[in-house]
Amino acid sequence: MTYTIGLLGLGTVGTGTAKILLDPTRRHPILKDVKIGRVGVRNPDKKRDVAISQDILTADLKSIVTDGDIDIVVELIGGVEPARSLILEAIANGKHVVTANKAVISRHGDEIYTAAREKGVYVMLEAAVAGGIPIVQPLKTALGANRIHAVTGIVNGTTNYILTRMQAEGASFDDVLADAQRLGYAEADPTADVDGLDAADKVAILASIAFGGRIKLEDIHCEGIRQVDAADITYADRLGFTIRLLAIARRENCDNFTDSDDRLQVRVHPTLVPNPHPLASVRGVDNAILVEADPLGRVMFLGPGAGEGATASAVVADIANIIAILQTETEPILHPLLSCAHQHYCTIAPVEELVTRFYARFLTRDESGVIGELGTCFGRHGVSLESIVQIGMRDDRAEITIVTHDVLEGNFRAAIAEIRNFEAIADIPSILRVL
Ligand code: HSE
Repeated sequence: MTYTIGLLGLGTVGTGTAKILLDPTRRHPILKDVKIGRVGVRNPDKKRDVAISQDILTADLKSIVTDGDIDIVVELIGGVEPARSLILEAIANGKHVVTANKAVISRHGDEIYTAAREKGVYVMLEAAVAGGIPIVQPLKTALGANRIHAVTGIVNGTTNYILTRMQAEGASFDDVLADAQRLGYAEADPTADVDGLDAADKVAILASIAFGGRIKLEDIHCEGIRQVDAADITYADRLGFTIRLLAIARRENCDNFTDSDDRLQVRVHPTLVPNPHPLASVRGVDNAILVEADPLGRVMFLGPGAGEGATASAVVADIANIIAILQTETEPILHPLLSCAHQHYCTIAPVEELVTRFYARFLTRDESGVIGELGTCFGRHGVSLESIVQIGMRDDRAEITIVTHDVLEGNFRAAIAEIRNFEAIADIPSILRVL
């Protein structure tokens, strides 16, 4: 039996997907049963890098999601609208959906999965997180016997590329960003990447799958990399750390598992990662996701987080999974491992209640007693210091860095608020968390 795909979007990922589906030789035999029925594009007359017949191209995307001949709608247009409406309409018309769209799932996953469950169709999203890296299916299936403690990822290639080059070249964020834009590694509007919003979308999806509950995007604490200075990268390096933008989803209480009252930490921020940690060695545009699980222990997934072939690999794997189910199941009962059943919202701990280590850099007057004042203030707020070092002078100011032990974020912030008012303090250019 042949299954017919309605492809929405023929950009980078859509083109990669079409290329795989049009050339199934030596891939999984199930892909021979797939036909691209119609393709929705903005401009059907544009010259394409893939052998798609002009006859099946249309600018009327709505006509694809309502087409009775289409079995699976593959949504690769990105963005929130019209993607959300098209996905909902496809579901309402009984179509299975494969999407690479993290923005629409992280914001509207609740209504999309509620509709899919009611209609008995699948919405698969392997490509929405970390491009070609298989992480959604492993969390749903291969890791299902485990209690997940944490999922920690480098899930944005653009920022990892920028941080890697800043470290290698001692260059500033602005210079590397401009070069990355010139080379096509960063978007003309880099906001979603450099401000951590893309990573927040992805960690919302990862946390939801790993911990079996819905996540409100607005509960995720999110900081980007604009404030990471070349000086911090240099000092971090001297202290034995590499700065990476981490997306972290962690269960707070891993000793006493109950089915309720579990709080999660879900956050995105630049982080000093100890150099021996596996995430510190992830360079360039690569993505990586470290899963800490019981009884498995630590397992890391590493690979290309974007790109035509890599992301299309994940899209087509989802198509193949759906077809495998359609071929083998006669009853329209959703596969319990591949469908989404949870409906409750996870409780996300406020960031002030996070216990973590901090790095901070201060520019101060170069006079006696400043380090003592800093140490005393931190001590008053219950913030224990692991190191405090005056590195040298910058712009006629003494430059001092501190690294704390594990402390309550709220206590650290209270100390910093007090320190900002010290006469000797000119500036606190950087505050970063330490893994
Ligand atoms: N803009 C993303 C990144 C790729 O830089 O990783 C698409 O999710």
